[in-house]
Amino acid sequence: MTAHPAERADPRFPDLADPRTFIDTDLPALWRTLRAEAPVHWNPPAEDRPGFWAVTRYEDVLAVYKDNRRFTSEQGNVLSTLLQGGDSAAGKMLAVTDGPRHRETRKLMLKSFSPRVLEHVGHLVRRRTQRLIAEVVARGEADFATDVADHIPINTIGDLMDIPVADRGKLVEWNNRTLSRYDEQDSQLEEWLARNEILLYFGELARERRRSPGEDVVSALATGLVDGEPLTEDEIVFNCYSLVLGADESSRMSSIGALIALAGHPDQWRALKTGEVSIAEATEEVLRWTTPAMHFGRRALEDVPLGDRVIRAGDVVTLWNSSANFDEEVFPDAQRFDLGRKPNRHVAFGHGPHYCIGAFLGRAHVSAVLEALRDQVAAVEIRGEPRRLFSNFVYGYLGLPVALTEER
Ligand code: HEM
Repeated sequence: MTAHPAERADPRFPDLADPRTFIDTDLPALWRTLRAEAPVHWNPPAEDRPGFWAVTRYEDVLAVYKDNRRFTSEQGNVLSTLLQGGDSAAGKMLAVTDGPRHRETRKLMLKSFSPRVLEHVGHLVRRRTQRLIAEVVARGEADFATDVADHIPINTIGDLMDIPVADRGKLVEWNNRTLSRYDEQDSQLEEWLARNEILLYFGELARERRRSPGEDVVSALATGLVDGEPLTEDEIVFNCYSLVLGADESSRMSSIGALIALAGHPDQWRALKTGEVSIAEATEEVLRWTTPAMHFGRRALEDVPLGDRVIRAGDVVTLWNSSANFDEEVFPDAQRFDLGRKPNRHVAFGHGPHYCIGAFLGRAHVSAVLEALRDQVAAVEIRGEPRRLFSNFVYGYLGLPVALTEER
């Protein structure tokens, strides 16, 4: 008996491995149909890659996230690596490590994210964001992506890791190329080269911090012990890489998405401006609404029944946050952008043992943008076509021409 219902493509469902799907398709309609008719859907193989499962209901997504005994991250946790059969950072980078090593390394990294440090960082993020928005307001027009959002998260994580300011711009550029291509023409080779640049960069920085450690996260990784032993250079470098990658792209995409959503929903913009909704509530809804990390994934280690299917040992399973966060069973009137939504138990940061280590910072970035817009901006207007990212993983925009009118 085959676990996979069909090896042929179902014409109702586009290929979820193809980045074009996320540009060309009515995504809310696609997720709705999948949740209703094929909640554990088999995305059939193509010439250049194997097939995989796509899980779209909230409860099923949560169940797989929680279960890192039967669903491992050690053979990749996103489509690109899972479909290649593995991740070269497996067992060395937090997100693709399981078991005791994962728990211990996570503990070590979390030490650098103490409430005292985070409170200070939160303060710096708010100050930096208020300044960036003030500059745009003074000019009247800007590209919100490149003039504002690009400068916020990289500088926060840059401060936490003590990355020289002059190097931060090139890290953003490399990040864009590793996670998601600018467009269809960009090659895999370019992605690979950019990833290599980042790893080389952190290799150098880690060696420097081992020689003369400071108070930053890179020093914590370079000098910390797990099971009484220092981390290997690979572990240090891969974890630095994942911090920059995790911190930068998703937070940027949420901030840019926030502006688009606010411009398109004047009632919600008013609710934010008048204080009818708190910044904390609004931040959660922006994270749900934008869901920048569309999916994560796992490989099954044994046969597991899920919904009306059986996932077979060895199968790749993808968890679609971008569908789960709009599941009507959990979010009433899910297609409504409602800044006061309560409760709002979205899975934008995942769930379970691999729950995002930077959730506090992600929230701090989005709330700083909302706060600065509320305080300084009277009206938001989109002035041109937003430029979409080409990716099956990150949903968001690379360019967003806007006009922001000053609050008087
Ligand atoms: C894990 C999303 C911000 C670093 C995750 C996961 C999600 C996520 C969904 C779970 C991955 C999985 O289960 O395989 C987001 C979003 C963010 C954000 C939407 C912003 C809006 C950040 C920031 C950092 C960060 C600011 C860095 C400080 C990480 C790391 C992991 C992770 C290191 C792996 C944790 C583990 O495996 O234990 N993130 N993230 N993220 N994130 Fe974030």
